[in-house]
Amino acid sequence: MILYFSGTGNSKYVADFLADKLQDEIVSLGDMLKNSLPLVAESEKPYVWIAPIYAWRFPCAVDELFRKFDFQGNKTVYFVATMGGDSGNCQKICEKLVSEKGMTFGGFADVIMPDNYFGGFNIKNEQEMVDIVKAAHPTLNKIAETIKSGYELNIRVKSSAGGLKSGLINYGFCKYMLSNMKYTVNENCTGCGKCERLCPVNNIEMLNGKPQFADKCMSCYACIHKCPEKAINLGKKTEGKSRYVCIDYKKENL
Ligand SMILES: Cc1cc2nc3c(=O)[nH]c(=O)nc-3n(C[C@H](O)[C@H](O)[C@H](O)COP(=O)(O)O)c2cc1C
Ligand code: SF4
Ligand code: SF4
Repeated sequence: MILYFSGTGNSKYVADFLADKLQDEIVSLGDMLKNSLPLVAESEKPYVWIAPIYAWRFPCAVDELFRKFDFQGNKTVYFVATMGGDSGNCQKICEKLVSEKGMTFGGFADVIMPDNYFGGFNIKNEQEMVDIVKAAHPTLNKIAETIKSGYELNIRVKSSAGGLKSGLINYGFCKYMLSNMKYTVNENCTGCGKCERLCPVNNIEMLNGKPQFADKCMSCYACIHKCPEKAINLGKKTEGKSRYVCIDYKKENL
């Protein structure tokens, strides 16, 4: 069973790709989070857990889901991270999560996909995005073949100082940055409510036709990238910059 979390579609693209190659079913962890669904699944096939990297590891909310999840049937879990380029020590963290649950670690892979983070990078044009997604296909095929044959998955882009990045720096990101996300909504907002509907942690509420943000943001950036009016900003970090949503695996034929 493929279980995925995705803010802007990269991890969903990877999940759809692997579900297709492995002929396996697919479940959205975002839907489970948003709707407080029971965290339980049953599968005869191994589990494949897919999520983006935020500050050199999986989002805290996704790790928390994993800890609470009741995996019935098969006891092996594979992990696939989508990222701009560096997953730090995420592999080791996943190994620990699995052993705490008494399950079997099937392995870890990280895949370079378009970077949806605004810190320093500007989002590139559509053709460059498609090229990055296309370039991920050989890695995705390798991941599918490894899982199919039951071998241990170990496909990594080199990373240095992973302990520091996924440890202390990630801790600072979660403790100080997440709770201090200063969202603004400009006059282009039409009050359509899309941001409220898609926030996976219900951090947005429409009040008098305008979105209000609470303090439990997990920084998936879905609201910023998917607002049809580009009305949501994080100050200068995002103002005037283009937005990104991954192409749909089921619609495009790369
Ligand atoms: C808050 C935030 C932090 C990020 N940190 C990292 C990082 O540490 N390393 C990295 O390679 N990519 C990082 N990224 C980029 C995403 O991991 C990457 O674009 C991912 O594929 C997005 O997946 P999604 O479209 O499924 O949400 C970050 C993105 C966000 C929004
Ligand atoms: S998605 Fe954009 S336009 Fe729609 S309510 Fe939210 S901020 Fe306003
Ligand atoms: S407020 Fe926006 S960035 Fe934060 S979790 Fe919700 S959709 Fe994601």
